[in-house]
Amino acid sequence: TKVVSIVGARPNFVKLAAVAETFDREFEHTVIHTGQHYDYEMSKVFFEQLRLRDPDIHLGVGSGSQGYQVGEIVKKAEEHLKSINPDVVVVYGDTNSTLAGALAAAKAGYPVAHVEAGLRSHDMKMQEEINRRVVDHVSALLFAPTPSARDNLLKENVPGKVFLTGDVHVDVLQKWIESIQRSNILGRLGLLEGEYVMATIHRAENVDDPAKLAEVIKCLKELAALTKVVFPIHPRTRSRAEEAGLEKELYSNPNLVATKPLGYVDFLRLVTGSKLVVTDSGGVQREAYLLGKPAIVLRDRTEWIELVQAEWVRLADANPARLVQEYKKLLEKPPAPQPGLLGDGKAAERITKTISELMRR
Ligand code: UD1
Ligand code: UDP
Repeated sequence: TKVVSIVGARPNFVKLAAVAETFDREFEHTVIHTGQHYDYEMSKVFFEQLRLRDPDIHLGVGSGSQGYQVGEIVKKAEEHLKSINPDVVVVYGDTNSTLAGALAAAKAGYPVAHVEAGLRSHDMKMQEEINRRVVDHVSALLFAPTPSARDNLLKENVPGKVFLTGDVHVDVLQKWIESIQRSNILGRLGLLEGEYVMATIHRAENVDDPAKLAEVIKCLKELAALTKVVFPIHPRTRSRAEEAGLEKELYSNPNLVATKPLGYVDFLRLVTGSKLVVTDSGGVQREAYLLGKPAIVLRDRTEWIELVQAEWVRLADANPARLVQEYKKLLEKPPAPQPGLLGDGKAAERITKTISELMRR
């Protein structure tokens, strides 16, 4: 069976790491890297830390407008897909690489399998929501991480087959937990266990509008008045802050430890040692829960409603007062343990089995 994986951005690499080994063993597996993310800290470090082999094909697309990025990937991926002639093309998550990979495959007549299908924010202004909806409606196999994601797909009557697999981030975390525990990043940053909050912010809705970005930075500053905050800065956030003249706010606060984006192992070691997490990332709010840390999400909604219901994720939008209130509440009364909300760590096994049963030539 010939399988092509199309990846291009940081969260795509982490999800690929769940299935890469079994795909390589069971299938004739080709990995295409679109080049959406290209900095060492956004791409190569994940291949190194998660022991992923080098991609077979690089499209080298890079940054640009939505149309440029999606268009270039579709055009270039199509050529390679036609020469490979795969039985199935697997895409991961909800980035532009996911959308463009799925479009290129579906329009060239190849079945698409979507890992992390069925998530919905119901906010059509969000690029990722457009990406997910289109991908889910052109996919033949849809691998849903949670019951609510599966139900969304059934409600929308998608034409493909839907499978509840659990979240692949559980598989990856289980595999790498010992390396995470061994990382000496706390020492390297001069941090002590349990004395800081871990923060990441990169959603376009939070950083592209300078007024919203100012609110987000105010959130971090108010939190930094109460505790040390470790903040690995995504390149989008860094450039928007510079354009808005707000970068000084990020680099001149002694309680705000700003770093480059970190590799998977070091980043998650920092989550493990934190009081709690403040984020707008989809992946990070789940990893926080999996590592026993509550997450305050600086959005007004989340696709991971099971985590909100269990009170492991609290929504504070980009509202400094709400953030501080949630922070204090969570320190006083952490949420009750509720394991298993994201599956059992066997998502990759289910995905591989389904593909080999249904797509075998
Ligand atoms: C993308 C995804 C988002 C995901 C995020 C993960 C889309 C629409 N968005 O957002 O869903 O959560 O990745 O991190 O696909 N840049 C660099 N170096 C890089 C990559 C990007 O400097 O290696 C800068 C460029 O200025 C670029 C900007 O970051 O314009 C945004 O990059 P882009 O890939 O368009 O979107 P992300 O914000 O990274
Ligand atoms: N991540 C990382 N280093 C960082 C920030 C995030 O390794 O500095 C990892 C994180 O653990 C998760 C993935 O990147 O596995 C999530 O990517 P991101 O937050 O960029 O995207 P999203 O999940 O929101 O699409």
